Amino acid sequence: MTDVTPTAATGLDVVLGVSGGIAAYKAAEVLRLFTEAGHRVRVVPTAASLNFVGAATWEALSGQPVQSEVFDHVDEVAHVRIGQSADLVVVVPATADLMARAAAGLADDLLSTTLLTARCPVVLAPAMHTEMWDHAATAANVAVLRSRGVHVIEPAVGRLTGVDTGKGRLPDPADIVAAALGLLDPVPARPHDLSGKRVVVSAGGTREYLDPVRFLGNRSSGRQGWALAEAAVARGAEVTLVAANVALEPPAGVEVVSVVSTEDLRLTMLEAARDADVVVMAAAPADFRPAEFIGTKIKKTPDGAAPQISLIENPDILAELVASRHGAASPVLVGFAAETGDESATVLEHARAKLARKGCDLLVVNDVGGGRVFGSEDTEAVILSAGGSSTEISFGPKIDLAHAVWDACVHEMDD
Ligand code: CTP
Repeated sequence: MTDVTPTAATGLDVVLGVSGGIAAYKAAEVLRLFTEAGHRVRVVPTAASLNFVGAATWEALSGQPVQSEVFDHVDEVAHVRIGQSADLVVVVPATADLMARAAAGLADDLLSTTLLTARCPVVLAPAMHTEMWDHAATAANVAVLRSRGVHVIEPAVGRLTGVDTGKGRLPDPADIVAAALGLLDPVPARPHDLSGKRVVVSAGGTREYLDPVRFLGNRSSGRQGWALAEAAVARGAEVTLVAANVALEPPAGVEVVSVVSTEDLRLTMLEAARDADVVVMAAAPADFRPAEFIGTKIKKTPDGAAPQISLIENPDILAELVASRHGAASPVLVGFAAETGDESATVLEHARAKLARKGCDLLVVNDVGGGRVFGSEDTEAVILSAGGSSTEISFGPKIDLAHAVWDACVHEMDD
């Protein structure tokens, strides 16, 4: 490993592992993106992967020699040196077999020994059929690898080999490269302090349908939740993003679960929170829903009478998450509050009262008087803790606020 923090400007020594799946040909695009960005790439294919893309292709594209076995060129001690000198190891595609061997610590070829000797960030981009990804053995191997700080990117959902579709498709090469380089981004240096942690973030605004085409909704864009998810991935967390009606591209390396209504969001959050270390409720759930859903489109009446819509209150998800936790292993719970000051209290007074009422550990408070923050790229906030601390985050990108929230969560977990 190099002594200085490697950057895109100085060029990285990247090891591109290729294991034996049909998506091996897409590793060529990953290689191209790294080399075009000025990095040096050494390709280490498994023997099985050479059935899909041959060594000559990798040598031509990388300009470097290619070997698969530990007994090739033994004098160079490649099985140790390649991993030791890498700034980044990225495996594209990572098959179920490769991940099983990595989780077990096997060292029976050059790629597996490289994974054991690397001390730099290791990124695995899985690709396999949905059944293989969903299998308990694969899930256990992925969990073991993530707990050791290996960055296993969530596979994409889409067309697989053959006629089937589902989860297991190789993520887009540009997303793989962005996720991998994001782990090394030194500006600003982010600690890998969420490694091995499972975090759940809700984002967006829920919709309550009146009929098949009309709904009650709100102005939440989901951008803050997205920034939280991206920041958590960069700090090594396993991230589930529960997205309510968000029109943004899913962030790389994040499992996205889509929901529509507050009840959908509630059920998904209660389930996901069970084995989470941190749960952040950045979504804006609709507080009310129509008492009745009309299954066909509501029509105008000839006499021009407007329909009367009666509303009922939705459950408070954050309060339920607080009520459902028990024991020391329960997650850190974070709420968001968009407040305006009024004649009865200031923004912060309302927020302190809300923090006490909800019973969560942290509350991130935005002053939304005058339409500020909604949908914008920048924000300012105050992070209040149940312990009484208050941290002001000055106006800036939502990703900066996201990192400040994770700093506060790490502090809560350490307490
Ligand atoms: N929240 C929730 N379930 C709801 C409403 C809100 O979990 N039904 C969460 C939000 O995601 C947020 C926090 O509670 O993290 C505060 O949301 P806010 O709308 O400010 O709270 P309310 O209790 O609805 O307060 P108000 O009466 O001020 O709207």
